[in-house]
Amino acid sequence: MSASLATVAYIGAIILFILSLGGLSSPESSRRGNLYGMIGMALAVLATVFGPRVSMAGIPWIIGAMVVGGSVGLYAARKVQMTQMPELVALMHSLVGLAACLVGFANYIDPLAAQHLTSAEKGIHEIEVYLGILIGAVTFSGSLIAFGKLAGKIGGKPLLLPGRHFMNLVGLLVVIAFGWQFLHAETISAGMIALAVMTVIALLFGIHMVMAIGGADMPVVVSMLNSYSGWAAAATGFMLNNDLLIVTGALVGSSGAILSYIMCRAMNRNFISVIAGGFGSGGGKPAKKADGDAQPAGEVVSISALETAELLREAKSVIIVPGYGMAVAQAQHTVNEITQFLREKGVNVRFGIHPVAGRMPGHMNVLLAEARVPYDIVMEMDEVNADFPDTDVSMVIGANDIVNPAAQEDPTSPIAGMPVLEVWKAKTSIMMKRSMATGYAGVDNPLFYKENNRMLFGDAKKMLEEVLVALRA
Ligand code: TAP
Repeated sequence: MSASLATVAYIGAIILFILSLGGLSSPESSRRGNLYGMIGMALAVLATVFGPRVSMAGIPWIIGAMVVGGSVGLYAARKVQMTQMPELVALMHSLVGLAACLVGFANYIDPLAAQHLTSAEKGIHEIEVYLGILIGAVTFSGSLIAFGKLAGKIGGKPLLLPGRHFMNLVGLLVVIAFGWQFLHAETISAGMIALAVMTVIALLFGIHMVMAIGGADMPVVVSMLNSYSGWAAAATGFMLNNDLLIVTGALVGSSGAILSYIMCRAMNRNFISVIAGGFGSGGGKPAKKADGDAQPAGEVVSISALETAELLREAKSVIIVPGYGMAVAQAQHTVNEITQFLREKGVNVRFGIHPVAGRMPGHMNVLLAEARVPYDIVMEMDEVNADFPDTDVSMVIGANDIVNPAAQEDPTSPIAGMPVLEVWKAKTSIMMKRSMATGYAGVDNPLFYKENNRMLFGDAKKMLEEVLVALRA
């Protein structure tokens, strides 16, 4: 393939990647967005493999590597559960970081890489190598720790070493000092020593940074590492002089940064305080009983599936708020059947989706789309929050933190200020979960004790099936 044809293919791939990002912004167009992304990536790979910079002798090696890598990817994608998606994503980010490091080292020792460069260009090239390895190493080790935390292999509690900010500052100064040495190294081996020291510090920094972040902030960290992996890819693009990799890396880097910002706002967290670490313990503890002054006032009133069906049958308007528990129970199909039944009876059923419901951005939208819930009744939190006072029944299915009134009512709560779905403002709220346990943030929920709240205890799928049977009876 000639150089100009490869450039045209690269431009085509870049346009498809931009269209893909645009498509992913709404559930209706997300399938199309994915398709654009896949075609763009296929075009990019073909134009690179058959482009002017790869010799024929190298092609069997590339195909061999693609078969091995592609098979591992296919196996992982088929085997992963929806709830394990964030940890798979974290693992994938670590591979981008590792690739950036390996390309950086290979590029530095490759005698051909800087062959025709002037001394100024060589300096710029070495800065690219140094920064690429630095970002890649932080992404690699940070993503592995994020994977460990999300998979429950490492505890969610933040590790707060004494003087940790000071340690990070010293690390940064050492990295700058070795960067200076690297740029002025007389020999390849002197340069390699500086690179190796910086890589070890960057790996330790990645581990330290993510270890200091509590379980409740992990989603922001995953999206932040997504952004880092994009910048690592862009740095690799600079090293290899590959425009497509620069643009694609920048797209991933900036979209990851925007997503981190949106998630921080949805969790009422300041981005800097997330990075500084220390919030969230991993969750899942039982809520304390209402028997002391400091406990929420009121009584926990439970309800049966039959009584739930009666309330739903009598309602004119219902807002369903799904959360992580709906994903665990795989209850989305039963939710859709109940929705269809009620809509046929003339009940106005809508869904209220919190931006961080579940365990990954868009988690609930994907599940509801899979169950074929119509898009036009799936509303964002801001679209539906004002409607709760005019709603007969709000039905919370396996959600907890995202409907916690403490975020508004208790300024000392760790989630104070986080925007939540105001389900307690409906005439009756029904909270469907298995026990009195807390959610992801490990924070007690006073909603359990509100006068107009009813608890439907049990696995979401099982209870909803019972509700459906009772509705149809
Ligand atoms: P959570 O606050 O984690 O609450 C989920 C609730 O579901 C739990 O309290 C649990 O109570 C219940 N549950 C679990 N399995 C169930 C089952 N089989 N049947 C019925 N209920 C079940 O979830 P949420 O309200 O969706 O809030 C999301 C939380 O996760 C937020 O704190 C958010 O910051 C965090 N987070 C979000 C993301 C993204 S990007 N969405 C990623 C990671 C973390 P029981 O044990 O009593 O059943």
